[in-house]
Amino acid sequence: MSRQLKTEYPTSADWDAAYRDGTPPWDAGKPHAELPRVLDEYQLRPRTVLEVGCGSGADAILMAQRRLEVTAVECAPIALERARLRAEQHDALLRFVLADAFEFAQKAGQFDMVYDAGLYHYARERKLASYLDMLWRVTRPGSHFLCLAGAPGEAEDDDGPPQVDEEDVRNELGRLFEFVHLRPIRLESSDPNRRYSAWSCLMRR
Ligand SMILES: C[S@@+](CC[C@H](N)C(=O)[O-])C[C@H]1O[C@@H](n2cnc3c(N)ncnc32)[C@H](O)[C@@H]1O
Repeated sequence: MSRQLKTEYPTSADWDAAYRDGTPPWDAGKPHAELPRVLDEYQLRPRTVLEVGCGSGADAILMAQRRLEVTAVECAPIALERARLRAEQHDALLRFVLADAFEFAQKAGQFDMVYDAGLYHYARERKLASYLDMLWRVTRPGSHFLCLAGAPGEAEDDDGPPQVDEEDVRNELGRLFEFVHLRPIRLESSDPNRRYSAWSCLMRR
């Protein structure tokens, strides 16, 4: 998947192809360090969590291992197969759903927390309205939303995530939620020696 989407939003087949070809550049194969950092720092103990675009599942499994009730949605079948296998290997119990998260959200109900590592920075380019509609449907007052998204910082690099300016994050996500924090982090990638500039955005409805 190229850094910025040039044409239409990718289909699930496009996303799947990124996994079929091997390990996509965003897939660190382990949880993002920022997720447990935020859960611990704010002592967040949501009962129910929805992860949108869970990829091969490392973050969803970490949350399930913390005994959160996790629903992890992913549209790429190969990614979800890897996530299911990883969950089995870790003896983790969670609900995986193969679906378009925007469609899933229509009937999913509300969650105490929604987590997104890497979907927003793609979705905002072509499907911002659908993305925000999804977030609105799956949250209720008091729900938290944690979003990890690419930030400006590095020179153009096709393996890096799309970069979102701070002002855009504030304008787009601030329409729905209050900011708890918006801070710069380094986001892991499939290359253990490579981490990218990113935002950690924790919000509360
Ligand atoms: C940049 S990847 C991040 C994956 C994972 N969160 C991670 O950090 O490794 C974005 C993920 O969102 C999935 N995705 C994209 N659009 C989606 C949609 N509409 N519904 C569900 N999943 C989607 C892609 O297949 C891909 O796995």
